[in-house]
Amino acid sequence: MNENAAQSINLAVQSMYEAFPYPNYGLLLPLRWQEAYASGSLFAQRLVQQETGLTSLGQGAGRILIAGCGDVQAAIISRWEPRAHRVAGVDLSRPSLRKARLRSLLLLRPMDLKVLNLEDPSADLGQPYFHIDAYGMLHHLANPSQGLQTLSHSLLPGGTMRIMVYNSRARQWMFQISRVLALLGLSPYQPGDLRQTAQLLKTLARTLPALQERIEGMQGIIQEPARLVDAFFHEREARLGLDYWLKAIDAAGLSILGLMDRYAELDDMPNPLLEMPTQDKLQARIDDLRFENNLEFYLYKKSSGEAGTLSYPAPLSLRRRLPPLAWQRYAETRKLGRLKLWQLWQAFLTRNFQGQSAFLDRWALRVEHPSLQRLSRLGALFPDQLQSRELKKVLHAPMQTFMETPTLARARALTDIPELQKQLERILIEKKLPLARMNLIRERLWRAQNL
Ligand SMILES: C[S@@+](CC[C@H](N)C(=O)[O-])C[C@H]1O[C@@H](n2cnc3c(N)ncnc32)[C@H](O)[C@@H]1O
Repeated sequence: MNENAAQSINLAVQSMYEAFPYPNYGLLLPLRWQEAYASGSLFAQRLVQQETGLTSLGQGAGRILIAGCGDVQAAIISRWEPRAHRVAGVDLSRPSLRKARLRSLLLLRPMDLKVLNLEDPSADLGQPYFHIDAYGMLHHLANPSQGLQTLSHSLLPGGTMRIMVYNSRARQWMFQISRVLALLGLSPYQPGDLRQTAQLLKTLARTLPALQERIEGMQGIIQEPARLVDAFFHEREARLGLDYWLKAIDAAGLSILGLMDRYAELDDMPNPLLEMPTQDKLQARIDDLRFENNLEFYLYKKSSGEAGTLSYPAPLSLRRRLPPLAWQRYAETRKLGRLKLWQLWQAFLTRNFQGQSAFLDRWALRVEHPSLQRLSRLGALFPDQLQSRELKKVLHAPMQTFMETPTLARARALTDIPELQKQLERILIEKKLPLARMNLIRERLWRAQNL
C-alpha cells in the first residue's frame, strides 16, 4: 500500500475515534482494576520467568508503552505497574487522550500521553520500552505487519509485548452484517442511525436463530455507541488470518510466549498460556469455529544479556481488592469458595510483584485438578509456584480429550421473515435508496448465517 492510501486510512480511523472515543467509560465510573491482572509488564515478565527460570529485564525505571491506548487503558494498566515504571500512551484520537490525561490526574499518576500516528514514518516513539501493550489496535492499521515491526524496534532486547488482534474467521458474520448496514445507508454520523442499527440487531437476533446467541452476547456493545461503531462501522478492519499474524510476529523478531484462552476453547490442548499451540492445530480450531476468541498473544524479544531481578512490593490498593471476577466465572472455578480464591489472589500478587510466592502445594491439594488447570490457563497460577512435579504436570496437561465443534442453527431465508423484510425495506425507503438493494441484502444476510 502506498503512503497516500495509508494516510487516508489513518485519517478516516482518526475521525472515527475522535467522534467516538473508545471505550468511552465515564470518568467517575468505578473501574475493576483487578480484572486487568494479566496486562502489565510484570505479568509478561513472569511468563518469561516461568519459561526460562529468570526474568529478562532488571529493576528500575522501566518504560511501558500503551499503543492505541484509547481513553482508559493507560490508567488501568498503570495500576499494575510499579511506581518506578513510567507509563506512556499514544493514540490517534485527541478526545481519547484528553480523557486519559484527566484520568492520570485523578490517579495522581503522571504519564506521557501523546497524540501520535504509529504509521507516520516521522513519528518518534521515544526511548526503547520494557513492555508494549497493543490491544485491539494493530488490525486497524493500514499495514499491520509494518506497525508491529515499528513497535518491536521500540522494544528493549528482553522486553515483552501483549497484543490482541481479531480472529477474522470468527467475525465473518459481523463483516456481512456491517455490509448490510452500509447497503441500508446507515451511518454512525447520521442522527438516529445508531438507534436504528441497535433495533435492527435486536430483530436479527429474534428472527435468525443462527445469529441469536452471537448477537445476544453483544448487548454491552450494542448499547454503547462507541462500541457499536467499533464493531460494525469501522473505517478499517483488516481481515487477516492466523498465518498472517504468525509471519508478522516472526518478521518483527518476536517470539510467542503464550496465548490467553479466555473462553476455554482450547481445553483439548496443553495449557496454551505456557505452550503456544502449533499453527495447524490452532488453525483447524479457528476454521471450524471451535476457537472464536480473538488472538491474545504474549510476545518476547529474545536477548542474550544477563537476566535481572524484578521485585516490588505489591500495592495495598490491589491487595485489598477482591479477586478478579474473570477467575470465577468458569464451571471449574465457580465453587472454589471465597477463602481459596482470596489466598490464590494474594499469592498471585506476591508472585507478580515480588517474583515468587510461597509454594502453593498445600493449597493446591485441597483444590480439584480441573480448577487448578483452569486457573493456570488464565495466568492465576503458575507451575513454578508448586514444588510437586505431579501437580506441575497437571497445569500443563490438556483438560479434555476433545472439544466439540459448535452446532449451528440453520439459516433462514429473508423471504420467510416478513417482519425483518419490512423493517429493512422501511429503512431503505427512509434513506431514499432503491428497493432493488434488497437482493444484495438478502445475499449478505444469508452469508452471515452460514458461519
Ligand atoms: C479498539 S480501540 C482500543 C483502545 C484500547 N487499546 C483498549 O483496548 O481500550 C483502538 C485504538 O487504536 C487507536 N489507533 C488506531 N490506529 C492508530 C494509529 N495509526 N496510531 C495510533 N493509534 C491508533 C484508535 O484511535 C483507538 O483508540
